[in-house]
Amino acid sequence: MNQLDLPAPGLTGRVRDLDFLEGFFRQAAVSGGALLLTGDPGVGKTALVDALADAASAAGTTVLRVAGVEFEGDVSFSGLNQALFPLAGDFGELGAAHRDALQVALGFGAGPAPDRLLVSSATLALLRHVAGQGPLLLIVDDLPWIDRASAGVLGFVARRLMGSRAGLLAVCRTGAQSYFDRAGLPEYELRPLDDEAAAQLVAAAFPGLDPLVRSRVLDAAQGNPLALLELPRALSESQRSATEPLPSVLPLGQRLRELFASRVVRLPAPTRVLLLMAALEGTGDLRVLQAARGRDDLLDDLAPAEHDQLARIDENSRQVTFRHPLIRSAAVEVATAAERRRAHQALAAALAGQPERRALHLGEACAEPDEEVAGLLEEAARRISQRGDYAGAVAMLARAADLSPGPPERGRRLAEAAYIGAEAIGEMRSASQLLEGVRQADPLHYAPAAMFVILNGDGHLDTAYRLLVGAIEGHASEGGAHGYDADDQALINALWSLAMNCWLGGSAERWDPFYAALARLSPGPPPLLALNTDLFADPARTGVAALPRLEAALSTVHHEVDPNVIENIAGSAMYADRLAEVREPLWRSVSRGREGGLGRRHLVALMDLCTDDFHRGEWAEAAQLAAEGLQVSEERGGRFFGWYFRYHQALLAAVQGRFDTSRALAGQIIGWAGPRGVRTAQVFAHQPLVLADLGQGDFESAYQHATAMSPAGTLASHIPHCLWVVMDLVEAAVRTHRQAEAERHVQAMAEADIAALSPRLAILAAASAAITAGDGQAPALFEQALSLPTVDQWPFDVARVRLAYGERLRRIRAAGESRIHLQAALSTFQKLGAAPWASRAERELRATGRTRMPPARAHAAALTPQELQIARLAASGLTNKQIAERLFLSPRTVGGHLYQIFPKLGITTRAALRDALDAVDRSLSAGNSGARIRFCNAYPGRGRRCLERMLVAPVAARGLPETTAQWQDQLLVWTAR
Ligand SMILES: Nc1ncnc2c1ncn2[C@@H]1O[C@H](COP(=O)(O)OP(=O)(O)O)[C@@H](O)[C@H]1O
Ligand SMILES: [Mg+2]
Repeated sequence: MNQLDLPAPGLTGRVRDLDFLEGFFRQAAVSGGALLLTGDPGVGKTALVDALADAASAAGTTVLRVAGVEFEGDVSFSGLNQALFPLAGDFGELGAAHRDALQVALGFGAGPAPDRLLVSSATLALLRHVAGQGPLLLIVDDLPWIDRASAGVLGFVARRLMGSRAGLLAVCRTGAQSYFDRAGLPEYELRPLDDEAAAQLVAAAFPGLDPLVRSRVLDAAQGNPLALLELPRALSESQRSATEPLPSVLPLGQRLRELFASRVVRLPAPTRVLLLMAALEGTGDLRVLQAARGRDDLLDDLAPAEHDQLARIDENSRQVTFRHPLIRSAAVEVATAAERRRAHQALAAALAGQPERRALHLGEACAEPDEEVAGLLEEAARRISQRGDYAGAVAMLARAADLSPGPPERGRRLAEAAYIGAEAIGEMRSASQLLEGVRQADPLHYAPAAMFVILNGDGHLDTAYRLLVGAIEGHASEGGAHGYDADDQALINALWSLAMNCWLGGSAERWDPFYAALARLSPGPPPLLALNTDLFADPARTGVAALPRLEAALSTVHHEVDPNVIENIAGSAMYADRLAEVREPLWRSVSRGREGGLGRRHLVALMDLCTDDFHRGEWAEAAQLAAEGLQVSEERGGRFFGWYFRYHQALLAAVQGRFDTSRALAGQIIGWAGPRGVRTAQVFAHQPLVLADLGQGDFESAYQHATAMSPAGTLASHIPHCLWVVMDLVEAAVRTHRQAEAERHVQAMAEADIAALSPRLAILAAASAAITAGDGQAPALFEQALSLPTVDQWPFDVARVRLAYGERLRRIRAAGESRIHLQAALSTFQKLGAAPWASRAERELRATGRTRMPPARAHAAALTPQELQIARLAASGLTNKQIAERLFLSPRTVGGHLYQIFPKLGITTRAALRDALDAVDRSLSAGNSGARIRFCNAYPGRGRRCLERMLVAPVAARGLPETTAQWQDQLLVWTAR
């Protein structure tokens, strides 16, 4: 028979199972047979056999179906009637005895009750007869609920289909009893969906589900499709979006309850109580249950649950585990609210030695506000947030707020929950929801979280700034409620938020209120806040003095578990270029984030790793992490922070020679940041512009962009990022004959002693001095820069120093020595993929008179349009075959063209194509019509006439093509006419 048209649409992750069933059916359609399909309730048995049935009918098979119905199991032959009804027209084809027996048994005719064996053989005869005309498939679903008489007949038939063209597929949930005799029948167990399919199913059915909620659902469902579909449905909208915390045990929803709860309800009361405690306790520790229960017949009480396969007891590990998380949910679901509270109360008493868990149970046991319990929850929340369990902390604080008798406490706790949600998780929706409850409360509590919500809501940085400063200072003036007490968490949160706001604002004055408050903190500022301020706010002035404290922090960071501490140590390490020492803890934050959650921590870790990767020349990883960061910021960590990853993408594009992309991204950041007042983002965006200009040799523009970050001769106060363009500024200044400016900048670096701040900055400072120095001193200064520690760690920066050194040596006629540095720079640039810099190094190298260099190129004008097109595609990394496909040529023709192209461009390898074409681009985009005319002249015939027409025509309005690619496109358009 024909291949069935599988897999069915709408089924996720069942290709292998469908294949198996298809195989069974194909075989049965030829020589008969039976199969028993088993699996947990809700695992998708019916859905799977539906798919098989549809496909089989579509292929022309007669499909008969019957499904047992609970509580109808005692109506004799009701199942068989359902199954054979469509064949009633064929009864007449049977012998009289068979025909009569079936008609009576199925209620079509009257007569004495037929013998079961006779009905069985009649059924078999009927099925064989019908199968004689074509394949037949009988599907019996929910076998345990098929009436006893029918089950007996079907069991008989199942063993006797061999040699017919009929198949019988019986479906039965695992472990259920039935009257169907299954002995000896082949069995296929349908397993739960694998993780990937489960995630896919949930994502398709609930696209907006919060990732944390999604992972809870995936955990609880364990690949059971019914649970995957039902658990989210049983949640409220605000639970689905995580604006409301989830209960510790997920509710089941109607269909799951029918399947699972009914089994729990049947248990004796003491067993149910114990299962409830086990479910709420969560770890299954029998000792805790024993203590909570206060009786020692625990195992006896659990025995019925074990017997019904609802739970398993491992006496060695003293643990009880539920056979499925859904049974755990069911145990909670069937209990009344009062029973649950009692269970929580008992567990709290049993967990006296574990304050966090105890607080949690006490919180659940309360029926009304209770300040003592709320206070315990608040303390517990602080502790667990220090371990990075932010979601847990938010839930605890929200519960503490619910239980707070007075509005001020309630407001404070909600605000802290909102702050953790917004700052650590990046979850703005729930944060703003929580803040709704705080509006009337103290602004000091409201402001720190509100800042994140305002920024993500496209608000202005200054709005948040005024709110924060007002909250901190206003609070003090009202009789100094916070009294600048360094232990006041709300005050400290407000200061962290304010510090970030000031940093983003990018001006020195902005910091004044922050410093004023910091100075008044008593007994003193928290050490991490002070460290971060010294190394992040204005490292050029306060960084060096803070280095010993940074050193101490770095020496402990590997053992640190608090992601917030890790993040702030990393922040402190950034301008000191010590991020490498925080990589391992940062990766931990990334991994956690990838596992689903903690958006903003994930984001900040990605930012730091991107930065470190860029400086270390790990550009592929930087690109990958930047893409991940953009995605996380869109989806979880707050869209506001996306600019940082665009900045990294712009940096990479600049150094790799994708100038248009780089400028477009930088432009986007600048445009985005303007109306929001995020000046630091604009400062950052100048850096890729500087690098793009340097890469293209536009030193004037590079100088303008570098000095827009900080004027020559100063390291602008509280603009830390100007440290990263110090050498760029000096190089651009010297190249544009601004010797005095360059010298002043070198002087500023020396005065700030940035060499002491970071080993990388030490190299840049030394090289800047060398670039500025006269020919007499320069070589020694370059040598000094290149002999500093860590030169092997910053390949791009150091290769640029070598390039500058090589250029200088060539100018002072030390060609031989020059070549050594140029060659080293060239090979680094090539390895990095820093195309424009590689070209520059190559040009210099050629100018040293190195004879092994290939002849001057930019002979692109000698290429035919088609050769140019092929060269461009090859340079973009396509293979001959791929190019051939695009251009409708044979790969051999493409190869032949390349054979012509290489010598015309003066290159010998494919890898050199891109640089060669870049050079052509530059000569054409120089805006000089001479180049364009030469270009035209290279195209004989029609192409040339077209181009000439274009040049003489008033095309200025349309804009002339700039790059070779655009010229070429234009040419193709014209020649096609
Ligand atoms: N592979 C699957 N992909 C998508 N939905 C599924 C899948 N398997 C089952 N479902 C859905 O899950 C629910 C339970 O499946 P069902 O076939 O009724 O389970 P069972 O018969 O094993 O109790 C149904 O709503 C069904 O449509
Ligand atoms: Mg079913």
